[in-house]
Amino acid sequence: MDYKENIIPHDHQIKQADRINKNGFQPKLIWFTGLSGSGKSTLAGAFETYLFNQNYHTYILDGDNVRSGLNQDLDFSDSSRKENIRRIAEVSKLFVDAGLVVLTAFISPFKEDRQQAKDLVGVDNFIEVFVDTPLEICEQRDVKGLYAKARAGKIPNFTGIDSPFERPETPDVHIETEGKTVEQSIKELIDQIIPKLK
Ligand code: ADX
Repeated sequence: MDYKENIIPHDHQIKQADRINKNGFQPKLIWFTGLSGSGKSTLAGAFETYLFNQNYHTYILDGDNVRSGLNQDLDFSDSSRKENIRRIAEVSKLFVDAGLVVLTAFISPFKEDRQQAKDLVGVDNFIEVFVDTPLEICEQRDVKGLYAKARAGKIPNFTGIDSPFERPETPDVHIETEGKTVEQSIKELIDQIIPKLK
């Protein structure tokens, strides 16, 4: 017999709707996607600070942080990246159910995995933000020194070098960061996302 047959989810008394009533805002999953060094974490962090100061309850899940804990068993093979995103989507779903505005900052290079996250949390609860910074710029910045290592052949499967990034075709929000300040990009996020949280 399949062990899953004996798992019977419990229907708890406090529902997401109760939390929404109490909080006065719509929980959402704001999913930042883009190359390493594109500015996902910077923008998600700055936008979270803005939301926090506006009294939204927020939580941020970030690539390197989650990979240091929950997902420390996963490498950067295609299958591990898939599992990385699957777990993050499941965790995000719990936080959205808890009534929070969740911001995630993962490369999430595969379209299919981003779509899976969207389906899991529900289309109406999901906002895809494409942090669109050209590879050349990410590589020039090379804040963590990883592109140099990848070019030297010291990091296999590096996104943009020898592992693909599938660009979102119709993101909800498209931020082109080249030549812009963080403040300008944050203003774009505020203008496009805040109306969706009312
Ligand atoms: S994802 O592809 O599975 O979504 P994730 O966002 O969790 O990636 O982690 C990306 C971060 O891990 C990068 O910003 C970088 O700091 C680091 N990293 C280490 N190895 C790689 C690699 N091979 N490809 C991309 N990023 C890597």
